[in-house]
Amino acid sequence: MALLPILCYPDPKLHKVAKPVAQVDARIKNLVTDMLETMYDAKGIGLAATQVDVHERLIVIDVSEERNVPLVLINPELTWTSAEKHINEEGCLSVPGIYDGVERFDAVHVTALDGSGKSRVIEADGMLAVCIQHEMDHLMGKVFVEYLSPLKRNRIKTKMLKAQREERA
Ligand code: NI
Repeated sequence: MALLPILCYPDPKLHKVAKPVAQVDARIKNLVTDMLETMYDAKGIGLAATQVDVHERLIVIDVSEERNVPLVLINPELTWTSAEKHINEEGCLSVPGIYDGVERFDAVHVTALDGSGKSRVIEADGMLAVCIQHEMDHLMGKVFVEYLSPLKRNRIKTKMLKAQREERA
């Protein structure tokens, strides 16, 4: 087990499009273990492989209060979205300290492989639905701040770059 470094916005590697996982083998199972450990350590509710610089379609999520219901989605595909959408406040481990509203479907159905390679269907609403949409965006190379106005996004970019410079100094 190992903690993985998380890429920070505006790192261009966050915009790479992930490829499907070819096989749920030992390498992928190790990656899942490390990603879960990294997510729990960072106190996040979701983490996409893209954020740890692995460009394959894999996400881990835990929206439970006790942080003991890990959900692993490999090669996730949306099969249904609700007609209703709402704006929810989101944050992201790759954009620390920034929270803003993003419009998402209220409910989604997703097919994916689980951590053992078995196919499953997830019917999600509430925070889980929002989290799944946020993490699936990462796999497409999209960070939530890209939904915000160019003005806000540029402010966030400047703030992040300044924080990263200060961290290195
Ligand atoms: Ni994120």
